[in-house]
Amino acid sequence: TFEVECVRSGLTLAVPPERSVLAVLNDAGLAVPCSCEQGVCGTCEVAVLEGEVDHRDSILSASERAANATMMTCVSRAASPRLVLDL
Ligand code: FES
Repeated sequence: TFEVECVRSGLTLAVPPERSVLAVLNDAGLAVPCSCEQGVCGTCEVAVLEGEVDHRDSILSASERAANATMMTCVSRAASPRLVLDL
């Protein structure tokens, strides 16, 4: 389990191992658009302000991953206890 803090909406949410960041955000009323839910389309991309992302998508390049500025919320997770998102 890790936390995602959504700075613009003032919400901090727990993401358990069996759920995606996208599902947790949508359940909290943050309507992040999605399509493939498999990390291949890029629709669910969200900007990351703080924290390390465990990138599991098939879209971002190695340099984009290293930049750690964005994540695909349908499949990617946190490699740090907390992510801060621009939501
Ligand atoms: Fe397609 Fe997340 S919904 S990459």
